[in-house]
Amino acid sequence: MTQRFADYQPEIYLNGLANQTPPFTTDPTALGAAAREQLEDGPYWYVAGAAGSGATDRANREAFDRVRLVPRMLTGATERSLRTTVLGQELAAPVLLAPVGVQSILHEDGELATARAAAAVGVPMVLSTASSHTIEDVAAANGDGPRWFQLYWPNDDEVTVSILDRARRSGYTALVVTLDTWTLAWRPHDLDQSYLPFIRGVGCAIPFSDPAFRAGLEKSPEDDVFAAVLKWVPTFTGTDKTWDRLPFLREHWDGPIVLKGIQHPDDARRAADAGVEGVVVSNHGGRQVDGAIASLDALPAVVEAVGDRLDVLFDSGVRTGADVLKALALGAKAVLYGRPYAYGLALGGEDGVRHVLRSLLADLDLTLGLLGHRSPAELGPDDLARR
Ligand code: FNR
Repeated sequence: MTQRFADYQPEIYLNGLANQTPPFTTDPTALGAAAREQLEDGPYWYVAGAAGSGATDRANREAFDRVRLVPRMLTGATERSLRTTVLGQELAAPVLLAPVGVQSILHEDGELATARAAAAVGVPMVLSTASSHTIEDVAAANGDGPRWFQLYWPNDDEVTVSILDRARRSGYTALVVTLDTWTLAWRPHDLDQSYLPFIRGVGCAIPFSDPAFRAGLEKSPEDDVFAAVLKWVPTFTGTDKTWDRLPFLREHWDGPIVLKGIQHPDDARRAADAGVEGVVVSNHGGRQVDGAIASLDALPAVVEAVGDRLDVLFDSGVRTGADVLKALALGAKAVLYGRPYAYGLALGGEDGVRHVLRSLLADLDLTLGLLGHRSPAELGPDDLARR
């Protein structure tokens, strides 16, 4: 059944008759400021902060501002559907929840709340390797909802195989391999507070519950958390890999594979040559290479290079429905939504994430129609003007 995401708008106005306003702001650009009032400095800046001077984080937003939509009239856009197909999987809308690690620093229910909200709205969740809950518990919370798994590729093949096996058995239907964070960038906000949750064993639920990882420990993480942390941190960070290692993942994952963090068209071509099914054009929300190209500016060349061979997904800087439309018009098949839902989680757990998602999708649905379209498939370069 096609969902009418725009219906959230009349629902909110009708609640006004009972003197009710929405539980949280409907302005995605204001969520960070609202969450700031709830969160301690460490968790807030872990989400809001970026690499170096923050230049790329700002550039991501500026790039969206330079691209403008050109609405068309009298197209009969009343009946619409946001449905789309990505990696051969039908999605209710061209939106997924980006992998965001350590969600327990934002709300005690962490990824479980996100999984429930995503399932309620019908949008796929991409679970991070740095989750604060296990692969299996998040799958249970997500129920019949669609879910993908994001891999921070461990430097231990047995652990990698074990994690992939757990994800497959728990119903995650695509693998997103994040390549841009093989080591953490220089992030002054976190450094100034000496704040890194993993050091305390937070965001380590997946390895700590993993039989292959546990087999390599002298004492269990329950008995000696610090020893487990000291083993895990160098297992998932600090070592770069090379293109010739990709067949290993193909061998151990039988579903679609998507490489996240691609910014250069030649890397996109190598991904296509390697036989993966998709890429995510992303600069990790400006959290890795400060001064890197804005993600939206990197998108057209990647689409040009591989758009006919791969599904090109996009993230970094998406805030509004119009932003989603701009990325789709530039050739992305779907976008990953990041910081706004993390702030929603901080503000109201499952309810907060659900509100943020419903707001984005309502805005997207309405703006698609007002632009003169009935489906994401109709979007293209004709919808855009550049300033
Ligand atoms: C992230 N991101 C991320 N990506 C990933 O592949 N695995 C992860 O564990 C995380 N963790 C994470 C934590 C936090 C707090 C943030 C803000 C981001 C990156 C994420 O998937 C996405 O690429 C960015 O969030 C996109 O940028 P915007 O749109 O959120 O600014």
